[in-house]
Amino acid sequence: MHSYPAPGADHFSLFNPRRKRHAADMSASTAGHPDYTFASDNAAGLAPESAAAVAAANVASAPSYGDDDWSARAREAIGRIFETPCEVFFVFNGTAANALALAQFCRSYQSIVCHACSHVDTDECGAPEFFTGGSKIIPVAGPGAKLRVAELEPVFWRAHGVHFPRPGVLSLTQATEWGTVYTPDEVRALAAAAKASGLAVHLDGARFANAAVTLAARGHSPADWTWRAGVDVVCLGGTKNGMSAAEAVVFFNPDHARGFEFRVKQAGQLAAKQRFASAQWCAQLEGGAWLRHAGHANAMARRLATALRTFPHVKLIAEPEANGVFVELPRAAVEALWARGWHFHRFIGEHGYRLMCSWATAPADVDRLVNELRAVLGAG
Ligand SMILES: Cc1ncc(COP(=O)(O)O)c(C=O)c1O
Repeated sequence: MHSYPAPGADHFSLFNPRRKRHAADMSASTAGHPDYTFASDNAAGLAPESAAAVAAANVASAPSYGDDDWSARAREAIGRIFETPCEVFFVFNGTAANALALAQFCRSYQSIVCHACSHVDTDECGAPEFFTGGSKIIPVAGPGAKLRVAELEPVFWRAHGVHFPRPGVLSLTQATEWGTVYTPDEVRALAAAAKASGLAVHLDGARFANAAVTLAARGHSPADWTWRAGVDVVCLGGTKNGMSAAEAVVFFNPDHARGFEFRVKQAGQLAAKQRFASAQWCAQLEGGAWLRHAGHANAMARRLATALRTFPHVKLIAEPEANGVFVELPRAAVEALWARGWHFHRFIGEHGYRLMCSWATAPADVDRLVNELRAVLGAG
């Protein structure tokens, strides 16, 4: 879906720190260095609580493969988010979380219905198809990267006998790939339509925390827009919120989780030293840092969006409700920013770019990007 900014550079050279740089790449404000601040929320480092937790867990010996105390505490802390007992499994990344969760619900001859922009369809290299043993993915359009019941129902009823892979799972993303957020009512309506057709409901929560902050401000708890709204399984992301190799798969019905530990192991996702990832979950969840960091990232996106709205040649593609800003920019301005060292991805069509904020984005970073955009637009 998205492509890498590569004026005159191949994919590898962009990420190769030894890449030779040209005089034209240098700018006063970025001091000539590549700047990944807005490239992805994956580009940020460990949040201080996570880094400290890894160091603190690095003591003596502890049980392996998730049988340690940190993992028990992390499972409990995750259960508290959802206000209900749940079955929690840890994996390294979001692709594995999604693919294995989907495989738990979807047989090889069934299909997965999701938004056309969804990560499971566009950015997982066929992992859901692979781990389900061949389930077809059916992408469906919808404004703002959100699905609507009206567009889904024809897909649910498209089956004709054995000839079409009957939908087995509806996959939603929260916050969405365009930084929008489903309301609890929207999730409830989509899940009800899915359940009426016999589908399970999966939620890709790579940016769950960002959505949680936005919806909490409107009076909704995570339970309201997950299991109470009909979601069966959540892939809970930690990586984009200041953790590393820390994603969790959360089932609300123990029957749905049966045998999942074997899937995790078979997929090579069971960490021998799980305590280091679990310690990060404890540190983020027990003191509330996860919401503080996500709230900060969302606030930086709003600050950026507010500034971008003042530029006549710049158009916001979606109203930012999480930590991403999706914006149409003139190509010449983009190339000028890339040449100054800024890294960010073209994400939507010819002119739609993604500017991601994270727990680590400072107000001064936002202001610096805005000032440089002003400069290059002026020069253009
Ligand atoms: C919506 C969404 N889901 C899942 C993921 C997880 O991907 P990864 O396997 O890189 O952790 C990402 C990461 O970009 C994402 O944006």
